[in-house]
Amino acid sequence: MTIVFIGGSPGVGKTTVAKMLAEKLNAEYVSVAELALNENIVLGYDEKRAAYIVDERALRARFRELSSAKRVVVDSHVANVVPPEMVEVAVILRLDPRELEKRLSARGYPRNKVVENVQAEILDVCLIEAVRVFGFDAVFEVDTSGKKPQEVLDEILNILIERRGMKPGSVNWFEKLGEVAYEYLKENYTNT
Ligand SMILES: Nc1ncnc2c1ncn2[C@@H]1O[C@H](COP(=O)(O)OP(=O)(O)OP(=O)(O)O)[C@@H](O)[C@H]1O
Ligand SMILES: [Mg+2]
Repeated sequence: MTIVFIGGSPGVGKTTVAKMLAEKLNAEYVSVAELALNENIVLGYDEKRAAYIVDERALRARFRELSSAKRVVVDSHVANVVPPEMVEVAVILRLDPRELEKRLSARGYPRNKVVENVQAEILDVCLIEAVRVFGFDAVFEVDTSGKKPQEVLDEILNILIERRGMKPGSVNWFEKLGEVAYEYLKENYTNT
């Protein structure tokens, strides 16, 4: 069977929509963060960034097993943890950086973590990694800004059925935000 990959910066709504999608497709929902922790597929812990370092190679092997028998919806902000040959479609969720900033701040994230993730969203970090790992043809973008989870789900279902949708390069936060985008990028943060 195959993998439907749902990616994007922290807080864009991956878990919310990936669970809805899995239910709709009658597929298995798997969160990379949960899988890595539950099965101890980690190499260590990054104290400064307060994040686990996952074992990418071991995760790819595990996903080969998991997806051999069924269709799996993978929820992850990194792409290099699933075997690309199993991936039918990779959808990168995008969110207006101002909305993302609000969401992450509301979660109580320290400012440096908010800024790091908002900058990554502006600079297309998850999108670029997905294109590199899965190839341009497999990757689609969905701009979730101002949309309800159900609307996001419908767009993803449409991509799966029609194999058509917004291709990498569609979302451009510099165009939408103007000077505000540069202000975010100029804000210093440090993990040291
Ligand atoms: N389309 C949406 N519209 C409004 N709020 C949303 C939408 N999707 C998710 N949310 C809310 O935004 C927050 C983050 O959503 P979610 O946990 O699904 O994001 P995530 O991408 O999985 O984050 P993380 O990478 O940290 O796991 C939650 O409070 C969720 O209820
Ligand atoms: Mg999540």
